[in-house]
Amino acid sequence: MQVTFEIGDPTKAEADALVVPVSSGNASAWPPLAQQLDEALSGELSALAADARFSGKSASTLVVPTLGRLPSRRVILAGLGKVESNGEATVTRMAGAAVRAARDAGARQIAFALPDARIGIGPDEALQAAAIGVSLGLYRFDDYRGEDAPDSAKGPDVESVRFVGMEHPGADSERTLRRAAAVARGVNLARDLSNEPASTLTPEVFARHAQAIAQESNLKIEVLGPAELTAIGAAATLAVGGGSVNTPRLIRLRYQPADNRDGSRVVGLVGKAITFDTGGYSIKPYEGMLEMKGDMAGGAAVLGAMSALRDLECPAPVEATICAAENMISGTAFRPGDVIKGMNGVTMEILSTDAEGRLVLADGLVDTARRGATELIDLATLTGAAVVALGDGTTALFATDDTVADGLLNAAERTGERMWRMPLIDELERKIEGDVADIKNTGGRAGGAITAALFLKHFSEGLPWAHLDIAGSSSQEKASAIGPKGATGVGVQTLLCYLTADTA
Ligand code: BES
Ligand code: MN
Ligand code: ZN
Repeated sequence: MQVTFEIGDPTKAEADALVVPVSSGNASAWPPLAQQLDEALSGELSALAADARFSGKSASTLVVPTLGRLPSRRVILAGLGKVESNGEATVTRMAGAAVRAARDAGARQIAFALPDARIGIGPDEALQAAAIGVSLGLYRFDDYRGEDAPDSAKGPDVESVRFVGMEHPGADSERTLRRAAAVARGVNLARDLSNEPASTLTPEVFARHAQAIAQESNLKIEVLGPAELTAIGAAATLAVGGGSVNTPRLIRLRYQPADNRDGSRVVGLVGKAITFDTGGYSIKPYEGMLEMKGDMAGGAAVLGAMSALRDLECPAPVEATICAAENMISGTAFRPGDVIKGMNGVTMEILSTDAEGRLVLADGLVDTARRGATELIDLATLTGAAVVALGDGTTALFATDDTVADGLLNAAERTGERMWRMPLIDELERKIEGDVADIKNTGGRAGGAITAALFLKHFSEGLPWAHLDIAGSSSQEKASAIGPKGATGVGVQTLLCYLTADTA
């Protein structure tokens, strides 16, 4: 799909559909462009909007055929919601909803008018946010669909989206679109990996994907297999992956900015990539195991973010680790009661083999710290308890450092990825005190997301550290404005916004 920008009059754009953003309110509050189109259609646009009770609510849409009275065959009104709450995230959602409606209607060539100045963000930011929304909204995972896919009933692939504006959206629209494409590619890469079945996405295959991305995106990469993991003392990763013929991999990636002005800062990213989580001998019941091909979403988000750093001209070096393993049952699997020594010497007593994410992350965090990270951020589908606490659309944030936490919360807010900070309650530390080892790998049901985070803290090596529990937010049960049912690619946008905060 092609995404371009051109200067011109949107009312004259020839297309299968012309998208026109409008804020909340009735037709009298519409921007000049929508009013002009209404006139060209003899007032039918506003009349049909009133009939359909279209009020410009965020991510709502109304498709109106123009029956030869305009160069575009349809006008699609796309809601931005209340003016006060407009920002990049609402523009992204508006754009995603609009192109999804256009595709559902069968449109292949889409013209897209940009929101007017009233939305309170600059024209460049609006173009970037809208372009991200377009590519996220049109994402589908159809690698495994037959020719007559049921999905094709929802419209053929869109061929082109042309943003049309009366004036230049800023310095360099091509650069803006390139940046948007990099972000969207990163998110959609994370979605693709997370949607991929576990039979075809083993730790080894994950590492091969990482190698391809590293080559394209100019990253250094090193993949550690069982022999190298033994050599560095990554016993936890080896234990978790020990039950599977698909042996574990620890993937090290390094991004080095062309011009390293930032001096001493090195951001460390760590992603949980359990390619399938059966629970091991602490086996999951049927329902709990259903979605566990997605238990590598943290690692996928890390790879997705890394893939975009060069195109975004990220100013800081980033050291990333993806902890890939498959949690299976066999004669070589680990067991409850086992004791594992962490790379930093902290010993872990296994109570549940289903609390495996924190074990591979323990190795990943220590390894990343040793490679020179000055702050650590991990992403993991870590606990059902985080989903119970915050629902299934919100990421739980834990942090030992307010600057990192606030940076992440700001980035999440700007990109529209919901995130809520949770407390690291010291007093709950007693729940994970070990009987025979230093700590145990579960602290019981109560406060399960917190005790998981407290466990990880033992491996944060005294660095400023943040942990994002994405168990709920990494997939969605129904389609949204910015994507279909399934993997969301959550975390990529937040990380990219956080890492490039002063280059956007
Ligand atoms: N991968 C799961 C967490 C999960 C649950 C992710 C639901 C996505 C949706 C994790 O490995 C796990 O099994 N956690 C256990 C921890 C418990 C044994 C302490 C859990 O949450 O039940
Ligand atoms: Mn588990
Ligand atoms: Zn898991």
